[in-house]
Amino acid sequence: MLDSTLLRQKYLDFFADRGHAIVPSSPLVPENDPTTLFTGSGMQPMLPYLLGAKHPQGTRIADSQKCFRSQDIEEVGDNRHTTFFEMLGNWSLGDYFKQEQLEWYFTFLIDELGLDPARLYVSVYGGDEKLGIPRDDETAGIWQQLFKQKNIETKIVDQPRTQGLQDGRIFFYEGGANWWSRAGEPAQMPVGEPGGPDNEVFWDFGADKQFHEHSAWKDQPCHINCSCGRFLEIGNSVFMQYLKTDKGFEPLPQKNIDFGGGLERMLAAVHDEPDVFKIDLFVPIIDYIEKVAGQKYTSANSASFRVIADHLRAAVMLIADGVQPSNKDQGYFVRRLIRRAVRYGKQLGITQPFLGKIAEIVGKTYREAYPAVMRNVLSVTQAIEGEENKFLRTLEKGLQEFVKQTAGSAKLTAQLAFTLYETYGFPLELSIEEAQHKNLTVSGNIHQEFQKMKNQHADRSRTASVGKFKGGLADTSEAVVKYHTATHLLHAALRQVLGTHVEQQGSNITGERLRFDFTHPQVLTDREKQAVEKQINDWVAADLPVTQQTMRKDAALKAGALAFFAEKYPDQVSVYTIGYDPEKDWISKELCGGPHVTNTGEVGQIKITKEKAVAAGVRRLYLELV
Ligand code: ALA
Repeated sequence: MLDSTLLRQKYLDFFADRGHAIVPSSPLVPENDPTTLFTGSGMQPMLPYLLGAKHPQGTRIADSQKCFRSQDIEEVGDNRHTTFFEMLGNWSLGDYFKQEQLEWYFTFLIDELGLDPARLYVSVYGGDEKLGIPRDDETAGIWQQLFKQKNIETKIVDQPRTQGLQDGRIFFYEGGANWWSRAGEPAQMPVGEPGGPDNEVFWDFGADKQFHEHSAWKDQPCHINCSCGRFLEIGNSVFMQYLKTDKGFEPLPQKNIDFGGGLERMLAAVHDEPDVFKIDLFVPIIDYIEKVAGQKYTSANSASFRVIADHLRAAVMLIADGVQPSNKDQGYFVRRLIRRAVRYGKQLGITQPFLGKIAEIVGKTYREAYPAVMRNVLSVTQAIEGEENKFLRTLEKGLQEFVKQTAGSAKLTAQLAFTLYETYGFPLELSIEEAQHKNLTVSGNIHQEFQKMKNQHADRSRTASVGKFKGGLADTSEAVVKYHTATHLLHAALRQVLGTHVEQQGSNITGERLRFDFTHPQVLTDREKQAVEKQINDWVAADLPVTQQTMRKDAALKAGALAFFAEKYPDQVSVYTIGYDPEKDWISKELCGGPHVTNTGEVGQIKITKEKAVAAGVRRLYLELV
């Protein structure tokens, strides 16, 4: 039976056979892009190249990218939503276009995955007069030919939302449904953002399974983009060819393909299994939860199982990529994932800490694809257990506070429930349960009132986080590029001063500072910090050239290039070397996609501003340009 490992490999092989360079997944936290918190799609790391920068590995690229979509946290619980997923992606950077892309993807689905073409349906961009972007008849035409080769009827229909399936195969959707950009629909895109019409492929789990009749959408017509669960989107080809400008949409310098398809979803289609939590990537986690909870995974408890399985897999992946649970930015989401999992565990009757073990289960599942998870399994387990225990104590405190605040009162108010939730993370359900134990009155509309307070609060935090997506180009501003080169200098200096056990664990750059995590067993002394600083500043003063080479991976590694983010590098890699002679006289050599300054003098003098521990054996340094 085809499993996730084989499917991932088949996809990469298929596109390698068609001239694509296979690149490793980028980390879940964008390395040089302070505009967004997480890598949420395969195209994010490709952005500069879609806009016209030259990719060191050519015009055809493919990968399997780890993605995290924080906006989907609340959606998890149904049969197909997950926050973390892998996106199989292929890109044409001004190379092939619609004909090859659609033909190849169709061939992959049918010949490689063995899917029945009669159960595939497609949605196509219906055009927008106001934007001056035409309806995509070309794509509909290509699909007609492709289906025809398989003797499949291809009725093209409009208005699927109001008219339903109409025995169609190819559906034109109006508005933003078949448009893709990082920011969403055309109107939401900031100036400088690229986007384009797209074409989605859906798998039909079958009318006989009666998804629609049992769903919240039963009173509206079912169509392929309906949320009832009958149809599952398994791939999206974006024709990335427009740039939003202050005058409207203009063509990009090149026409690109940006394809992304969820690995988990493609596998669900292959197994004809509408529940993605039953595919191999989740089975060991679900088995483990069954054991701890002492109950089987059934439709009655599935939401709790799914939330725990999804959230812990995501938390493990994020922590392995250097994010620790905390109160802000990415760390806040890791905290939320773990805390939600604790609560859903309680719903299953689990009262003991149980989440830490899932790190190892996930690590084993991804041993081949992402070996870094297993390498860091101890510190990941520790981070999860730490947060879980902290939250359990928090709940206890919340309970004490509940008792205190309700002493002598006959009623539980929404305000108190919300304060307990806000301050202690004490969930509404627990407040209600406790109130019932103590025979307090609970007002009939407490859920609505609580929700209203939560929404108001969420609006405030959303306003705060919108600022993070300033939009436009992935930030390749001067300061960011300088900090990127400073990252390599810091890495090299740490290895000189402290020793070669130092390995980069993560980095994060904003226009104002560099944050760098690395392995080292103890706190840095002042003398060590000064030595590191001085070493970097000496290199800066020496004006060392920074050079880029594309070379074979084995040659690069043999030459001493560092590759700690090497999940699995392709055969051809991009290497940045700092020094007078990239062969014989250098101080830093790393596998890296760039961009960098051309000369260390451009970085300017630096200082280390802060140093602290982030986990057992992992230190964090902050560095600023002076
Ligand atoms: N970038 C496209 C998506 O994420 C392929 O759906």
